[in-house]
Amino acid sequence: MNRHRGRFITLEGGEGAGKSTQVDGLRRFLEQQGITVITTREPGGTPVAEAIRGLLLSTDHPAMHPDTELLLMFAARAEHLRTLILPALEAGTWVICDRFTDATYAYQGGGRGLDMGRIAVLENWVQGAVRPDLTLLLDMEVRAGLARARGRGEADRFEQETVAFFERVRGAYLERARLDLGRYRVIDAAQPVEAVAGALQAAVTPLLEGRTPT
Ligand SMILES: Nc1ncnc2c1ncn2[C@@H]1O[C@H](COP(=O)(O)OP(=O)(O)OP(=O)(O)O)[C@@H](O)[C@H]1O
Ligand SMILES: [Mg+2]
Repeated sequence: MNRHRGRFITLEGGEGAGKSTQVDGLRRFLEQQGITVITTREPGGTPVAEAIRGLLLSTDHPAMHPDTELLLMFAARAEHLRTLILPALEAGTWVICDRFTDATYAYQGGGRGLDMGRIAVLENWVQGAVRPDLTLLLDMEVRAGLARARGRGEADRFEQETVAFFERVRGAYLERARLDLGRYRVIDAAQPVEAVAGALQAAVTPLLEGRTPT
């Protein structure tokens, strides 16, 4: 649990798993329980961090060095955390974030092969002790997720990666979930949208118990 009054929930998973599809429904579910909630995303979430997102996702820079990519992810995160997420949590607002640091471990660690220990150094540097209270991992077969993502239109810099890259991403996510079942819930993202929504609602319900009204 973070030390703030608001709860910090992150949605994770590979391309096309349905994170962005689910985020508003989950917000509405929590609002129906009387909670004040904001939704945001990474990389991005604030004007500066969204500008960094533009650099990271643009296909104009296909050859970006993996270390640069890693540092830009954490630069965007520092801005997002300090100017949006932490002030919200301190005010008692709950935050649902579409991707967070687990995605860095999965993509830059698993996918690109960067050392997980170096990512942990940056995580501690940028976040201190701040970690999500709950991480909902939308897991599904890589090819099926990519087929969904590609149905949306033009591929960004990450979406142009190989199936092998995304298999490593999936493996890294599942390994992190396996090592910390207290924080993660693995959701079968191959189910229909409504079934995934129900599984997400069930997963957040324990956070509602014993909370102080906001
Ligand atoms: N459960 C589902 N069943 C079928 N199609 C889905 C489901 N969830 C989402 N989709 C569709 O799949 C596509 C990708 O979904 P979405 O953009 O939410 O994925 P995402 O996890 O946010 O992907 P990315 O990591 O690329 O941002 C969208 O066209 C969406 O409508
Ligand atoms: Mg998305």
